[in-house]
Amino acid sequence: MKIVTVIGARPQFIKAAALSRVLRQQKGVQEILVHTGQHYDDNMSEIFFEQMEISWPDYHLGIVADTHGAQTGRMLEAIEAVLITEKPDRALVYGDTNSTLAGALAASKLHISVAHVEAGLRSFNMRMPEEINRIVTDRLSDILFCPTGTAVKNLQNEGFAGFKQVKIVKSGDVMQDAAIYYASKEQMPELPAGGVAIEKEFGLVTLHRAENTDVPQRLSDIFMALAEISLELPLLMPVHPRTRQKLDSAGVDLGMSSFAPDKFCLIDPVGYLEMVFLLQRCSLVMTDSGGLQKEAFFFGKPCVTLRDETEWVELVGSGFNMLAGSNKERIIEAVGRMKNVVVTDEDGMYGAGKAADCIVGALLGQLTHAKAQRR
Ligand code: UD1
Ligand code: UDP
Repeated sequence: MKIVTVIGARPQFIKAAALSRVLRQQKGVQEILVHTGQHYDDNMSEIFFEQMEISWPDYHLGIVADTHGAQTGRMLEAIEAVLITEKPDRALVYGDTNSTLAGALAASKLHISVAHVEAGLRSFNMRMPEEINRIVTDRLSDILFCPTGTAVKNLQNEGFAGFKQVKIVKSGDVMQDAAIYYASKEQMPELPAGGVAIEKEFGLVTLHRAENTDVPQRLSDIFMALAEISLELPLLMPVHPRTRQKLDSAGVDLGMSSFAPDKFCLIDPVGYLEMVFLLQRCSLVMTDSGGLQKEAFFFGKPCVTLRDETEWVELVGSGFNMLAGSNKERIIEAVGRMKNVVVTDEDGMYGAGKAADCIVGALLGQLTHAKAQRR
């Protein structure tokens, strides 16, 4: 079986690391890896291939930032060319980025079956580019790997169970597979002298959603909340390039002169192994990242989500995650309420680290079934 996997953004490297390892152990499976180039800085791309031992991409398309239409369109054209050359049995896409959408669209137009990992998630907020990407990708896919029961229900509510040839599999979450596999390989990050002391209590922060970074009022409200919280709980924040651009243009100095660095320390993005190190030691996570919300849970840490809604509703339902949006008072209150919450994973609600086995089993099983039918 020949599979073309399309990835391009940081969280997709992490998800692919977990699944690719299992996929490539299977006899008769050939994976061709396509990197669209969506994320391109060394600390947003290459570092993950090195640290997580992901095999180097067979194709690097070099398609960097642009408007959504231009970026997705250029990816579509370039991925189509790869698919025509490689003639795979299946395309594999992850998550909800522009790379995901372009991969699914290129493959489905060529009648190549599409497998979507992290299918069925919904924020019900159509202003999010990710919501558009995931809805379209799900509709174009014929095997949908849902990380949670909620994701399965979302697809059922949209009538997916009635679509012929569509298979829905509740697989668990490959990010938990990654968290378990790499936990013991953690690496201590290099931090600036005089920055937050990570051997003491600290909160780990990330922020990159367009809905926060691209709306000046939201960005400034969130930063005002963070600055105030940091006086009680020092904060460490690896800054995403999108956010860095917005902070630069707002005159906030990443060289830390804008905040007391031992209280609120802004650093460049770190690798996954450094992130695992920080996740295992922080007291609380504050984020608008989808991946970080789950990783907080995998590493037993409470999370305050800097969004108005989340796709990972089961974490909010369990009391391990609280939605605080961008309002300064709400964020401060949420941190006060969440910081001592004890987080335990008793129900294995994300698959307990077996998602990749489940996905690979289903992919191989479906192909064998299709071959038997053709005979
Ligand atoms: C993208 C995804 C988002 C995902 C996030 C993960 C879309 C629509 N969005 O958002 O769903 O949560 O990745 O991190 O696909 N940049 C750099 N260096 C890099 C990467 C990006 O400077 O290595 C800059 C780009 O030039 C651009 C900005 O950051 O100006 C945003 O990058 P882009 O890939 O368009 O979107 P993300 O915000 O990263
Ligand atoms: N991450 C990382 N270094 C950082 C920040 C995040 O390795 O400096 C990891 C994080 O641990 C998680 C993933 O990147 O595994 C989340 O990606 P991101 O927040 O960019 O995207 P999202 O999950 O929101 O789509």
